Amino acid sequence: MLFASKLPDVGTTIFTVMSRRALEEGALNIGQGFPDYPLDPRLAEYVTEAITAGHNQYAPMEGVVELRTRIAAKLYGSYGVNFDPLAEITITCGGTEAIFDAIQAVVGAGEEAIIFDPSYDVYDPAIRLAGGRTLRIPLQPPHFRYDWDEIKRAISPRTRLLIINNPHNPTCTVASRADLDALAALVRDLPITILSDEVYEHVVFDGRQHASVLAHEELRQRSFVVFSFGKTLHATGWRTGYCVAPAALTRELRKVHQFNTFSIVAPLQHAIARYVATAPESWLGLSAFFAAKRDLFTGLVRGSGFEPLPAAGTYFQLVDYGALSQDSDIDFADALIRDAKIATIPLSPFYAQPPRMTLLRVCLAKRDETLHTAALRLRQYSTRLLER
Ligand SMILES: Cc1ncc(COP(=O)(O)O)c(C=O)c1O
Repeated sequence: MLFASKLPDVGTTIFTVMSRRALEEGALNIGQGFPDYPLDPRLAEYVTEAITAGHNQYAPMEGVVELRTRIAAKLYGSYGVNFDPLAEITITCGGTEAIFDAIQAVVGAGEEAIIFDPSYDVYDPAIRLAGGRTLRIPLQPPHFRYDWDEIKRAISPRTRLLIINNPHNPTCTVASRADLDALAALVRDLPITILSDEVYEHVVFDGRQHASVLAHEELRQRSFVVFSFGKTLHATGWRTGYCVAPAALTRELRKVHQFNTFSIVAPLQHAIARYVATAPESWLGLSAFFAAKRDLFTGLVRGSGFEPLPAAGTYFQLVDYGALSQDSDIDFADALIRDAKIATIPLSPFYAQPPRMTLLRVCLAKRDETLHTAALRLRQYSTRLLER
């Protein structure tokens, strides 16, 4: 071998593995997080019009100004805070690029970043590619609460970054304002930047309000906050997201963004700007839209042996199969694909050191009929297991 891998332990993500297995076995894929219903036809019209109008060359590196201005207005509507679209908002290739750029911008060789498991799969490899070291703090099922004493013990003079994800994928929990206060107290006077991954900002259930870092005066001064139009517009393939951060942090993020993707698909930015200006109902209705899907799915599977855990946000749902089997979640998920023709995502690959648990993640961003079919197959499979 002429080179040494920089990420020798990284294989194909669990999402790709399970989706590939679903294809091989002809299984219904309710694991990976993407909608199976069409997007608002206005979005498609706006893209066509943007292309016809000639928006086909490089967009500005920071993002189309019209889109950033619309985002600033949207943020004011959501969080009551004014952000400078020119100095504090950057359009990125999905939330993923924003996360990657933010990490490269602040974590240096030998420095540390704290993340919480189960963690989104981008965080740790991006920290290590920056030359940093990841400290992974496991959140324990079934409540997945932050243990602030444990977090305090994990902080060292080398800690540069702490990443939170709220609402949280895959646990479906949400952080409270008290959590943000505890975090602010912990990092006060320390040289630690916060990266707050809030791609599910608009999906919080049962009357809750999303506690954004942007609405927290103290924290937002030291934070990158990441959002995704893929999630908000049911268009994960559009790969359009953005990062909001104070001007000094934004300058550093853009130094990475400029040489990473440089700029994002121009006609999509124009189309999204127009849509954001005219269709606020699309995001204001998201919580109710997904709460109805959560209630439908959990109502259909409750009592079947696939017990739903309480879900406070995101478009995912955890189910506990512990009453049916004590097999590992990876083995059980594979058996489900093979024998029940249902693909889910096991939880343990989101941990460095998974606790003992029997949890699978299901995606609720599916047509009602898909959720009906999935729930029926799960019920039939559990009947077969219980009859054995
Ligand atoms: C927690 C979390 N962060 C970030 C992302 C990435 O968002 P995007 O698809 O916009 O890159 C996802 C997508 O699944 C996610 O679940």
